[in-house]
Amino acid sequence: MKMKATTISLFFFLIYASAPFLGHGGSIFEENDEAQIKRSDFPSGFLFGTATSAYQVEGAYLDDGKSMSNWDAFCHSGGCEENGDIADDHYHMFLKDIELMHFLGIQAYRFSISWARILPRGRCGEVNPAGIMFYNKIIDNLILKGIEPFVTIHHVDLPQELEDRYSSWLNPEMQEEFIYFAEICFKTFGDRVKYWITINEPKLYAELAYELGIFPPSRCSEPFGNCLNGNSDVEPIIAMHNLLLAHGRASKLYHEYFQPKQGGSTGVTVHSCMYEPLTDSELDHQAAKRAFAFHSGWTLDPSIFGDYPEELKEYLGHELPSFSPNEKSLMKNSIDFIGINHYSTSYVKDCTNANCSATGNHAIEGFVEMAVERDGVLIGELTGMEGSYVVPRGMEEIVNLIKIRYNNTPMFITENGYSSPDVHEQRASELTNDVKRIEYHSKYLASLAKSIRDGADVRGYFAWSFLDSYEWTNGYNTRYGLYYVDRQTLTRTPKLSVTWYKNFLANKIGLDDNYGNIKGRII
Ligand code: BGC
Repeated sequence: MKMKATTISLFFFLIYASAPFLGHGGSIFEENDEAQIKRSDFPSGFLFGTATSAYQVEGAYLDDGKSMSNWDAFCHSGGCEENGDIADDHYHMFLKDIELMHFLGIQAYRFSISWARILPRGRCGEVNPAGIMFYNKIIDNLILKGIEPFVTIHHVDLPQELEDRYSSWLNPEMQEEFIYFAEICFKTFGDRVKYWITINEPKLYAELAYELGIFPPSRCSEPFGNCLNGNSDVEPIIAMHNLLLAHGRASKLYHEYFQPKQGGSTGVTVHSCMYEPLTDSELDHQAAKRAFAFHSGWTLDPSIFGDYPEELKEYLGHELPSFSPNEKSLMKNSIDFIGINHYSTSYVKDCTNANCSATGNHAIEGFVEMAVERDGVLIGELTGMEGSYVVPRGMEEIVNLIKIRYNNTPMFITENGYSSPDVHEQRASELTNDVKRIEYHSKYLASLAKSIRDGADVRGYFAWSFLDSYEWTNGYNTRYGLYYVDRQTLTRTPKLSVTWYKNFLANKIGLDDNYGNIKGRII
């Protein structure tokens, strides 16, 4: 998702973009370790998969009884340059897509359920049978191919009616709406779905929608953004409280009523950037800890310990709602696993004692500021997502940090992926050789393998993304897919990374085996 603006060093980018591509047979890595990473470096039973979300791939935005979602309404009223009306048309092409997943050899597929397809009017209306049928078909066909469905209940999109009726997550009524929706999912799909993620990245979602105002319902205030309504210092806190309680209550429902019979598990995913202190000062070390608390910790502390991190209490003061004793006990241990969406690492600078940007001086930011350069050197190679850099060590660091802080609760890497900054050359370069993506995944996997060797209980890894898809306000030019999607024909073409992932999953190394076969293989 779109991150806050950072300085992009064109010089640095040019150096990397012009790095020679070492073709067929040659190593694309400098360090042998990463080039050699293979399936058998991970425990047996470790799930490898790919991930998507409903609005980003499905399209069919008003088909078969689906109502307008918040994203449909937002984009149709001019909030985005491109929209998900058609997206990858996965709604009509899912069978072919599942074939492609099977070809790839993945063991699990993470996808989300469109709330507006199942409950077009929320609790006020009927369940839409066509929506149920669609996800039943996906689940059944995945299982038929031996692919484990990994389901996110809420990944950013919701029925617009809930936005109109309640201002969505600003209103505690949304908790009831979510529980109602989640219960239908557990009841209907839970006989076959054993992994449930209640909500995707609650904190980043609250930030983008209610602090920066770049996601619907576009609420914010200066200096965070220029929205018609909102209060960036307060509303994200309220939205988070409702999101967290919605998650906790849905999870409790599952644990009490469904888990005993269905035997599955629930988790929540967090957008887990790794934060490193900008300097060696104690203040910057504290700032890096605070940054963790204000991002991943905001969701994970309540979900595991039953309460907000101390740093939030200290810096947000009376703006931070408290959990009642009942709520604390329902939140505590409300997850069976932690979903980690990890892409990048940032340096962090303290703002309690130093001058920072206008936003870094706000409590809602934890009085920290992100930086991507130290002594004039960028933290890593730039990607196609503003603020996101290639820093493989961050994977090991974030997993170790989460392992220690949360007593080695089982973890899944629910998202990790690469988009190229090279948007203009994409068709030619990405179609045949997305070498940078392969390098990214290999290095991050090697880093992950190290943390597992050191005892981290990580149980799966999902490459983001299965297909090039609708990348929110960035539209279709930011491509994370292993499969290239032609925007005119929607044809899926395997990138080189498909060959690499397929080989990796078959415990072969690198691209040596059939790099040649990939050319011209259009599906
Ligand atoms: C989100 C995805 C998004 C990805 C890449 C994640 O934070 O969950 O929906 O496409 O980042 O930006």
